[in-house]
Amino acid sequence: MSITAQSMGTSHPRIEGPQKVAGTARYAFEYPVVRPLYLHPVQSTIARGRITAIDASAAEALDGVVAVITHENAVRLADTSDAEWSVLQTPEVGFRGQYVAGVLAEGSEIARQAAELVAVAYDQDTHVASLDEHSPDLYAPDVVNPAFATDESVGDPDAALAAAEYTVRQTYTTAMTHNNPLEPHTTIATWDAEGGRLTLFESTQGVVTTRKAVMSLFGLDADAVTVIAPHVGGGFGSKGNLHANTVLATLAAMAVPGRAVKYALTRQQMFDLVGYRTPTIQHVALGAEADGTLTAITHDVVEQTARYKEFAEQTATYSRSMYATPNRRTTHRLVPLDVGMASWMRAPGEAPGSFAAEVAMDELAVVAGLDPVELRVRNEPTVSPESGLPFSSRNLVACLRRGAERFAWSHRDPQPRARLVDGWWHGTGVAGSSYPVNTMPGSTAVIRFHHDPSLDPALGATGRYEVEIAAADIGTGARTVLTQIAADALGVPAEVVDVEIGDTALPTASLAGGSSGTGSWGATIADTADRFRDKWGSDPEDGAEADGAMPDNAYGDQYAMSAYGAHFVEIAVHADTGEIRVPRMLGVFAAGRIVNPTLGRSQFLGGMTMGLSMALHEQSVLDPRTGHVVNRDLANYHVVSNADVNSMEIDWIDEQDPYVNPMGTKGIGEIGIVGSAAAIANAAYHATGRRVRSLPLTVDDFI
Ligand code: MOS
Repeated sequence: MSITAQSMGTSHPRIEGPQKVAGTARYAFEYPVVRPLYLHPVQSTIARGRITAIDASAAEALDGVVAVITHENAVRLADTSDAEWSVLQTPEVGFRGQYVAGVLAEGSEIARQAAELVAVAYDQDTHVASLDEHSPDLYAPDVVNPAFATDESVGDPDAALAAAEYTVRQTYTTAMTHNNPLEPHTTIATWDAEGGRLTLFESTQGVVTTRKAVMSLFGLDADAVTVIAPHVGGGFGSKGNLHANTVLATLAAMAVPGRAVKYALTRQQMFDLVGYRTPTIQHVALGAEADGTLTAITHDVVEQTARYKEFAEQTATYSRSMYATPNRRTTHRLVPLDVGMASWMRAPGEAPGSFAAEVAMDELAVVAGLDPVELRVRNEPTVSPESGLPFSSRNLVACLRRGAERFAWSHRDPQPRARLVDGWWHGTGVAGSSYPVNTMPGSTAVIRFHHDPSLDPALGATGRYEVEIAAADIGTGARTVLTQIAADALGVPAEVVDVEIGDTALPTASLAGGSSGTGSWGATIADTADRFRDKWGSDPEDGAEADGAMPDNAYGDQYAMSAYGAHFVEIAVHADTGEIRVPRMLGVFAAGRIVNPTLGRSQFLGGMTMGLSMALHEQSVLDPRTGHVVNRDLANYHVVSNADVNSMEIDWIDEQDPYVNPMGTKGIGEIGIVGSAAAIANAAYHATGRRVRSLPLTVDDFI
């Protein structure tokens, strides 16, 4: 059943906006705790080997130091099956930057100074820390993130390529990049030894996900672990899964029962311990008939994984469902390295995969002499190329057409390197975009009504509705959007709805990841509202209450569900210096109902901004001699700024999708980054005649 929109579709102001502006919205590190201790880690200086001795005496002698925890004295974990989470359990070292000790002190500066005094001796092994696709260690993982087939093949792509009128065969590469939310990963951990209870104020994309991991690691019951995170300063995937920092903070808290332990990662530690996007090497081949109809797509990916814990980014999956072709092959191979572990970063898979796939389409348009918008339209599938299912809705063509119109694309001269204006080469580029509609199971919610005679009768409600769900707002505006959904599902004004999130004391919920939050939590709240209204009608009594759960989607196996988009970019490249400027970016999306246009625009804009950053700047430089990311701060790891771009515009198709969920929403957190870097590289080709197949684009590529 679908919900009638009243509040949905309006730009309800961000509920916690005033608190954030006033500085009263509490982030994990800011909770008032009595006499906290500060944790500072000691990190390994070798990439592979083992600790032979730790001398903490100089650190312990420092005034204010309370404890130094190492693998020799740390609490033993109940479950050590996950190598990343098995912090301070063995002397083994698997990557440079790994935690080898932690210092607890009365002040953060003392902890930091003491950490430098801990002497660690190692027995060092040789290590491998550069991605080589010809490595003898190359292997095929069982699945790619989260559970996609590693390889798949349809028809005979090699024969089709041999017979094709036009072919493109190229290799594309993308850089290693690191998640850098404004708020670093932070924890305040307190262990009540008598009660056997652990409390974490934690910067996380999911309090329940964090609790579950901590429970199994420390052998604790759900009742014994509380995780609180009402406000989170960004995550981009790195806060989706537990990482070693939270384990270290918990081990530290257990070493000093009753004392609150505060730990915020430094910006440099963010480059060592909480995941990153793997660099990729992508071999793409396209075959097409004379009219541009695709006859073959192959997309073969090589990327890295940490040797100690596998993560296989699903880079080629984009090519499985984007364009129609009778012959297709997609594969993933990993090279294990002695480096920190790769993990989720905004649109894992789609972000790097779409760069290769959408630049290859641009190259095909050039060799086939076709307009790149028209080429994409000609290869629009009627059913999902991957599953054969019909689409619940697919408006890629509408996005391309709308964008082309807004961008005056019909006036574009296809000739590259033809427009030199005041010393700058100008050009325009386009790319498609898509991101799956992910829905996570398992969420539950409670709605409770409290009579409130002080309410303005004009509101048409006799009281306030409290909605409880352990969801996360990582800066997206989830709290606001869920309020709007709850109001419409209950048939009451949003002004009388109070949504409580970010605490494991609330009904369990899935994490903010895979752009699944609004759909999953919203459907849960809609189900709960249905039950509430069935039970209590529209005039509930004081204290009326109902609970509900995430329902199964009856259409889940009948339709292929994805959001789509199109990016249009104008770029200027300085003829002498190769400097790159972006006068204009336009993203047009078809992502179901946009619950809140202001917040939705911000999500698309944020994704495109990260795509611009991926295209022009972001690159973690790993020194293979040390296994160390050498540019591990925001002075050396460049991210995009206003100076890079003049205008960013967002538009969307008013899409009605009755199958995705009762709200008709598709995820919008990630699709903005998908395809955006390709559109920039395609525009750079049109501007300069240089085809750059490696991200980031740099001035060296154009001089
Ligand atoms: Mo997002 S990378 O799915 O947390």
